[in-house]
Amino acid sequence: MNEALWLSQEDVKALDITMKDVMEAVEAGWRLKGEGKVELPAKPGVHPRRDCYIHAMPCWIGGEIDSAGLKWVAGYPDNPSRRGLPYNTGLFILNDCETGLVRAVMDANWMTTWRTGAASGVGALHLAPTGASVVAIIGLGTQGRINLRAMAEALPDLREVRIHDVRESQIASFLAEMEPLFPRFRYVACPTVEAVCAGADVVITCTPILADPRRIVRSEWLKEEVLCLAVDYDSAFDSDVMTGGEGFVCDDRNQYLWTQSHGVYFQDGYPREDQIYADMGEIVAGSKPPLSRGRRSALFMGIASHDVMTARLIHARALERSIGTRLPL
Ligand SMILES: NC(=O)c1ccc[n+]([C@@H]2O[C@H](COP(=O)([O-])OP(=O)(O)OC[C@H]3O[C@@H](n4cnc5c(N)ncnc54)[C@H](O)[C@@H]3O)[C@@H](O)[C@H]2O)c1
Repeated sequence: MNEALWLSQEDVKALDITMKDVMEAVEAGWRLKGEGKVELPAKPGVHPRRDCYIHAMPCWIGGEIDSAGLKWVAGYPDNPSRRGLPYNTGLFILNDCETGLVRAVMDANWMTTWRTGAASGVGALHLAPTGASVVAIIGLGTQGRINLRAMAEALPDLREVRIHDVRESQIASFLAEMEPLFPRFRYVACPTVEAVCAGADVVITCTPILADPRRIVRSEWLKEEVLCLAVDYDSAFDSDVMTGGEGFVCDDRNQYLWTQSHGVYFQDGYPREDQIYADMGEIVAGSKPPLSRGRRSALFMGIASHDVMTARLIHARALERSIGTRLPL
């Protein structure tokens, strides 16, 4: 009888996987991608409600990894404030590459949160100004918080965390959760976007992705030497933040351009093909040098290779610890 391992969100959380573990996995996947060993079609999606999506994200990672899987993930911006539900929810299916059989089915909420933060962390490892000590985070929900965990791992000199959100209550709950985790940082809550960017070496935006983006971060508010990291597509940074600096890096050129060509995101001045400096995989694999001066901008849409690498880690750890439920297929 064939069986698959079912891992609920509680099962996944119980595995005690660290940010360092996920960053190493994400970085290894990016390196293999940069070496041309990853099959990664651009993610197709359906949009049942305005500003909402449900994406299908398949991927095979070859090389020494040889793992394949698919994530079916929804993003509903009103879920946290109106329903007390997460913005992102979904499932991941891990396949056996030899037989194609399903080996595991797992909750994808934890994975999506952590691998997204980890991707920013790997971006900061390779692209942040040397000695970066001040981070600004705009949008203090799930991604704002996990991105801080990633920066704490990636930036050894980090000492000040500047924060901004349109909802007052988010500032209080961000501080209640993050201060005990990282008491070594100084936290500065800022009333405006301009104020939060002041003096920041790394600026990260984690606001809702909108079909009509507001683009609230202006280039003139940023330091000359800065890494800008967009977790929220083209919703927050003005287009010239992305085009006017030393270089624009994406997580997957094909997916970015495919999405742009479909006409909803990355319009109105966002980088075109000839304005992309590199895929992050090229930088991690060493085929493109990292940007080391001026304003570097990175837009990581989220790629399925991060999910496969993280799912692999989750599956291996669950087998090791006998966690999960075996389901007959
Ligand atoms: N790139 C990726 O791989 C990836 C993966 C997961 C989520 N995301 C995206 O990350 C973003 C954040 O997701 P989340 O789970 O943290 O959502 P969330 O709802 O938990 O947090 C969003 C926060 O942004 C705040 N906000 C809304 N408008 C704002 C504004 N104009 N200025 C400042 N703050 C504002 C909200 O009050 C909230 O605190 C979403 O756009 C989501 O789609 C991207």
